[in-house]
Amino acid sequence: MEKFSTEVAIDLQPSPKRLNKKINIFLNDVLEGLQSSPKYLDSKYFYDKRGDELFQKIMASNDYYLTNAEMEILTNQKAEIADAVLTDTNKLDVIEFGAGDATKSIHLLKELNEKKAIANYFPIDISENIINLLNKNIPAAIPGLSIHGLNGEYFDMLAKANQISKNKKLVLFLGANIGNFKFDAMPAFCKKLRNQLSDGDMALIGFDLKKDPKKILAAYDDSEGFTSQFNLNLLRRINNELNANFNLGNFEHYAMYDPDSGACKSYLVSMKEQKVCIDETPINFEKDETIFMEISHKYSVSQIDEIAVQCGFKPVKHFFDKKKYFVDVIWESTRFR
Ligand SMILES: C[S@@+](CC[C@H](N)C(=O)[O-])C[C@H]1O[C@@H](n2cnc3c(N)ncnc32)[C@H](O)[C@@H]1O
Repeated sequence: MEKFSTEVAIDLQPSPKRLNKKINIFLNDVLEGLQSSPKYLDSKYFYDKRGDELFQKIMASNDYYLTNAEMEILTNQKAEIADAVLTDTNKLDVIEFGAGDATKSIHLLKELNEKKAIANYFPIDISENIINLLNKNIPAAIPGLSIHGLNGEYFDMLAKANQISKNKKLVLFLGANIGNFKFDAMPAFCKKLRNQLSDGDMALIGFDLKKDPKKILAAYDDSEGFTSQFNLNLLRRINNELNANFNLGNFEHYAMYDPDSGACKSYLVSMKEQKVCIDETPINFEKDETIFMEISHKYSVSQIDEIAVQCGFKPVKHFFDKKKYFVDVIWESTRFR
């Protein structure tokens, strides 16, 4: 087991050069999406400071059942989850993809920390705001825990964590974030994850399960309108950061769920013919033209197990909430791929 290496410096301060690079990538991605037909925006850009706040409101809303379901699993079954991931006496590097505010994972972190089973905690998030928050809040909540927040994309930051420390890994990917990949892209993501892990490393992944279509649709079109504000906030972010002139009042949020495929999709619809300029590039919208914003895929348990095996993992255990709305699965990296 290797100790945390102090030789690898992590630059978490955004230098002007790094900021410019980030903004250029954001601009290119936005222009590529809005110059395509049909138009789309990448949902990873939802999370600026306001986006983070709106997502907290969505999670607390009555219609968004996912958070309560997964919270129930992580509070009531944290001891069983810890037992299932602690297969030997090695300490773990716990790496959390898209950690958000860690309100759910903190229960498992505390449980593992009490068992003195954590070497390092690496929360990874594309939102700088979130990483700053975690670096500040987690040491207060779990004194003594060695935390190294990594601001960036999942796999770039996993590679960084790998450079820093080579303990046995437990990757957390909670909140049904894995549902945000299109059905065909999800196994490719899991294979990539497997390829960056060693035999015996573990993953704990949260999947939202197929259920009453009305229940699912309500979660993505909540009666308080937070999902709508969350989607529109990306246009506001583009206005602020990329010198654009979207009129948010000219777009409406629309969500739909297809129970056959399990795909829940959200769109912004242009309410009129209009031209928007983004950093001097004109983008034309027809009346009723859509921008595809996000997919949230729902799975059956058998689909999840099949994907695990297909991607080089052994499905070890399923943890359900009482209503069986949601499942957190433990996968182990196997030698056979
Ligand atoms: C839906 S929230 C879920 C947060 C948390 N996992 C939970 O269950 O409450 C998704 C989080 O993933 C982050 N995220 C989205 N795409 C990402 C990417 N490509 N790389 C790293 N973080 C990402 C967002 O910034 C956000 O904090």
